[in-house]
Amino acid sequence: MTDNSSVIKLKDISYSYPGSNTRVLDHLNLEVNKGDRIGMMAPNGSGKTTLLHTIMGLCKPESGTIEVFGKQLKHEKDFLPVRSKIGLLFQDSDDQLFCPTVLDDVAFGPLNLGFSPQDAIDTARNTLERLGIQILEQSVTHRLSGGQKRLVALAAVLAMEPEVLLLDEPTAGLDHKVKEKLIHILNSLDISYFVISHEFDFAKAVTDKIYSMENGKILTDDEIHIHRHEHVHKHGKHPHNHK
Ligand SMILES: Nc1ncnc2c1ncn2[C@@H]1O[C@H](COP(=O)(O)OP(=O)(O)OP(=O)(O)O)[C@@H](O)[C@H]1O
Ligand SMILES: [Mg+2]
Repeated sequence: MTDNSSVIKLKDISYSYPGSNTRVLDHLNLEVNKGDRIGMMAPNGSGKTTLLHTIMGLCKPESGTIEVFGKQLKHEKDFLPVRSKIGLLFQDSDDQLFCPTVLDDVAFGPLNLGFSPQDAIDTARNTLERLGIQILEQSVTHRLSGGQKRLVALAAVLAMEPEVLLLDEPTAGLDHKVKEKLIHILNSLDISYFVISHEFDFAKAVTDKIYSMENGKILTDDEIHIHRHEHVHKHGKHPHNHK
């Protein structure tokens, strides 16, 4: 499916949080092409979430270039149109959900894209149904369980029919049955996505390649060895037995 047309291209990106002199991203390069389904498994604190926020223009890098759909993005106004085409599932669902009810939250994106109120509600209802959570429609979002919030946040992202998905630990807090459903949904989507996960089986089931991060840089699947006991390391760098 990959046709090599560039969806996201990061070149030589460096980023430190304000007031810190540690580089979370250090001359990082990343390419996501049309049709790519990329997984990312890397240790806590290695910079995965920061990377997604940088792509969305939420963290402004001190050096390097960001291109999305072949266009270089520099200023806040360049990122605005891109944010409706790239669906970011935040690591913390509370950062994503802010409306009183579930239906309002899921209809918010389509409304913002210019859908009529009725079309936005229909789209929201269809998306909730697709995720099997239509029963939550009138629920008060902030009173949902962590796993339910995760699904509503995902519905809010999918309802915008993004061209690319950036998913930050989508399975966190989901039970086995819901995870299986998510695997099925992701595999039935015909769009590029980049998914961060600490769960090897999930990442393997929904992606074609798995990257990692170390010292602020991406390690591609040629450079890492990934295997069933759920961690990644460079080829030959940390030898150990696989029993
Ligand atoms: N808002 C912030 N201000 C200052 N430092 C931050 C902030 N957010 C993250 N960091 C630091 O940046 C580094 C990378 O954090 P990030 O959240 O990107 O890691 P991660 O790979 O997503 O980790 P996890 O697997 O735990 O989600 C960490 O050292 C973290 O302490
Ligand atoms: Mg994170």
